[in-house]
This record gives sequence, C-alpha cells and structure tokens, in this order.
Amino acid sequence: MTAMTTAEPSRRTRYPGPIAEARTHPHALVEQGFATDEALAEILHRYPAYLFDINLYDYDAEGQVSLRTGARGNLSGDQLLAAIQAGRLWVNLRQAQRGCSDLWSAAMGEFARIQATYPGMRAVTNAGQLIISSPVARVPYHFDPAGVVLFHLRGRKRLFVYPGDEAHLPEQAMEQVVARQTTEELPYKQAFEADARVIDLEPGEALTWPLYAPHRVENLDRFCVSLSMDFQTWPSRFRNGALYTNAVIRSRGGRPRLTDAMSTPELAARWAASLALRRVGGLKDRIADFARDFEPELGAVDGAGALRA
Ligand SMILES: [Fe+2]
Repeated sequence: MTAMTTAEPSRRTRYPGPIAEARTHPHALVEQGFATDEALAEILHRYPAYLFDINLYDYDAEGQVSLRTGARGNLSGDQLLAAIQAGRLWVNLRQAQRGCSDLWSAAMGEFARIQATYPGMRAVTNAGQLIISSPVARVPYHFDPAGVVLFHLRGRKRLFVYPGDEAHLPEQAMEQVVARQTTEELPYKQAFEADARVIDLEPGEALTWPLYAPHRVENLDRFCVSLSMDFQTWPSRFRNGALYTNAVIRSRGGRPRLTDAMSTPELAARWAASLALRRVGGLKDRIADFARDFEPELGAVDGAGALRA
C-alpha cells in the first residue's frame, strides 16, 4: 500500500460511521485459488447473463467520462476471459452472493474479521460484485450508497478516495443516484485531484473507506480482479431512504432539507416514508433497461465487437 499524501485529517466525510478514513486490511482469498484463470473462466462461463454489466469507459482531456455498455454475447468463459485480458473492458458480475457462492462465503468470513476492527460497525445486509477488468480499464468518479470493502484478488489497481463533503459529493446528485434517476456519475472536476487520497492495492489487500466517500479507480497496466462487497448498516439505510424521499419531494417541485442537517429520528421517518413511496412507484427507475452498444470479442478494438443478437 502506498499513501501518497501525508497530512490525513481525522475525518474526511460529513457522514457518520465507524470508518473514518480509507484503510487496507489483509485477506486470504487469493491463496484459496479463487482468482486463477481457470476459476475465473468457470465463473464467467456459468454466470447468469442478466447479472453481467460490461462497460467501456472513454475519457476526454478534462477527465469527463462517456460510457458504452456491452451485452453478454455468446462467448465461452475462456473466450470472454481472453477478451477482457486483451481489451479495455470493465466487467461487473452482480449478486456475487448468488453467482459465485464459494468465493462469497469465504469473503463473508473475511468481512467479519475486518468489521470486528471497527467498534460499533454492524452490517445488516451484504451484497457484492465480482469485477473482472482489462489492464487499462478505469472506473470514473462515483460514490456507492453503501459501505464498501474492496477485496483485491489479481493485478494492481490505484484507488483515489476523495472527501465526502458537499463540494465533492453534492446531496442533490446523491438523491439522483439513490433514486436511480440517472446513469451519470457525480460531477467531477480535475481540481478534485488535489484532495485525493491515493492508495495502490495489491492482491491480498482489502480496502475500506468512509461511507459514501467518492472514489475512482485506475488499473495499473495489469488485468485486475476484485470482489467489491457493499453493506448496509441501519444508519446507511436511514440515510439512503431519506435521500430517496428527498428525491421524490424534489421531483414534485419541493425543496427538501438536506439529510446532512437531519437528526436520527428525522432520518428514520424519511426512511419509513421511502418504503411507502417505493411501493407505489414514487419514482420510476430510469436505468433498469437501457440499450447495449457492443458484445465482447477477442481481437476487436478494445475487445468490443458488433452486437449479434
Ligand atoms: Fe465504487
């Protein structure tokens, strides 16, 4: 692990939670053989197609991202693995708890150990994505509405973790993400780079960061595999529910108070309201179904071939 900034303020996020700063923890998933080519090809081969996200990110000179998305296509697991290793693809296998349950059980054991190092941290739900990405893939600036432990399994990647203040993480943008109103990420400015904490991850290391902290990822010229485990605590559930309710209020022309200024009972009340709003379809999920642009193909530019379906 390399921390490239020296002065580390004690808290870099306005949201409460037991994790005050980005930190690595050792894990033992690599030596258990979960990330060999054979194991990965097998997972890719049998993973349900509807749980695949295949993304291809392009960046302009200002670091602004555009996204193309791929369909699973009909490659075998071996072929898909080869296309990722030679291409410029970012493949996210959702619901790892169902799709690769052996790896998931082992990771939950590691999670329990890591959680125990944070007094007061109590995850109530855990879910995960197995991320298999090309040597030059980069993930744009974003936040996850959850706690995250990123178990790194293969290759080297560089994580940039930013403060969770209003400048880097505007609440209105958080509402849009939580209510799934946009595939856009958070607004990003190159000036944020001066505020980044930079951490290089090696296989066998897991990284956590403060709840909601914005981050981005660059693979360091190696094919990379990570299991990204996200978790909810009661405080994160309340906060997400309040953000959802605020998104609905805003969509109806209201100007909701920021969750930042709310007490726990207020957050809990807005969370309860969000359950009712979701039941009646308070906001239509606008990113559930969007068109695909390509299929993975070994030998095609970036590993992205024409759609065949
Ligand atoms: Fe993330």
